[in-house]
Amino acid sequence: MKILGIETSCDETAAAVVEDGRKVMSNIIASQVDIHARYGGVVPEVASRQHVIHVTPTVAEALEVGGVTMKELDAVAVTYGPGLAGSLLVGLNFAKALAFSLGIPLLCMNHLEGHIYSAWLQRDGDGAPDPEREPGFPFLCLIASGGHTDLVEMEAHGRYRLLGRTRDDAAGEAFDKAARILGLGFPGGPEIQRVSGGALGKEALPRAWLKDSHDFSFSGVKTALLHKAQDRGIYPPPGELEGADMEREVREMASAFQESVVDVMVSKTLEAAEKRGARGIILGGGVTANALLRERMVQQSGLPVLIPPPILCTDNGAMMAACGYQHLIRGHSSSFDLDVDPSLSLE
Ligand code: KG4
Ligand code: ZN
Repeated sequence: MKILGIETSCDETAAAVVEDGRKVMSNIIASQVDIHARYGGVVPEVASRQHVIHVTPTVAEALEVGGVTMKELDAVAVTYGPGLAGSLLVGLNFAKALAFSLGIPLLCMNHLEGHIYSAWLQRDGDGAPDPEREPGFPFLCLIASGGHTDLVEMEAHGRYRLLGRTRDDAAGEAFDKAARILGLGFPGGPEIQRVSGGALGKEALPRAWLKDSHDFSFSGVKTALLHKAQDRGIYPPPGELEGADMEREVREMASAFQESVVDVMVSKTLEAAEKRGARGIILGGGVTANALLRERMVQQSGLPVLIPPPILCTDNGAMMAACGYQHLIRGHSSSFDLDVDPSLSLE
């Protein structure tokens, strides 16, 4: 069964073809990052207009690379929330028109559920077993992106329990703001990772443990970073320091920030997994592309950790197609009068 997945919830126009919910036949992503970088963040109206420009060629390329004709498609899966309304509308309407004209099911999917289903995707020659069989449910999922930091228990396909969420900034948002404080580019996560290298911060930044809760909070560490950056002459950019001194300070502060955020995410994920008796851990969302987070989670977990390759952690169409497949084989499909839902949640 071949499903086309379309994803336009934020600033990537993405389309992919996935066979039988697991085999990635193509995965095309038209990034708008260079455009939004000029503004230091995603500008919603610019994003939706870029989707209008790129959605048709991106879908055409996904079909071509996948070696699949439109007539061979069994369904179209698309994100209808959460995300930016204007961006979601472009993908949703495109998917509706395509499914309608081909007379095939329309599968309107939750973006967060899509991030979880990235763990089901196989790449070339990757014979990884179906997570449902090995290690099997229940899973403890950490979804960390630009808009979410959720700890979700997945008891079975379609059965989710939200255990914890961020009380202020999402992890990705915190990375993006920290990068801005340090005078680094957008998006901040990859930039913080790049400049941190193997550096260890001289001083640690605080961690918000929020004892007895699975929730997160990242605004404290961001404020602590801001104050230290001001003290050390890094903020406001371009800063008072110069050359190698500046580089060293930025490296150490970025590293201390990354350490703090990763430490909290790893500890709280493992704690929740143990409490709920999970059989495996699933990571999804842009922040889980972070190398330190991936390394630490695997090192510290006694359970199998399912981590998609970085390109399938950030927003993509393949995860939406994989998600759509699981709904389709359970007899689900969506109505053609469905609207976008910018604040859709998983429960
Ligand atoms: O899932 P995603 O691609 O889009 C949303 O659904 O939000 O996540 C984007 C977020 C951005 O905040 C970006 O800075 C962060 O993921 N990110 C990273 C890394 N790569 C992307 N954060 C930390 N380390 C990375 N390597
Ligand atoms: Zn996402």
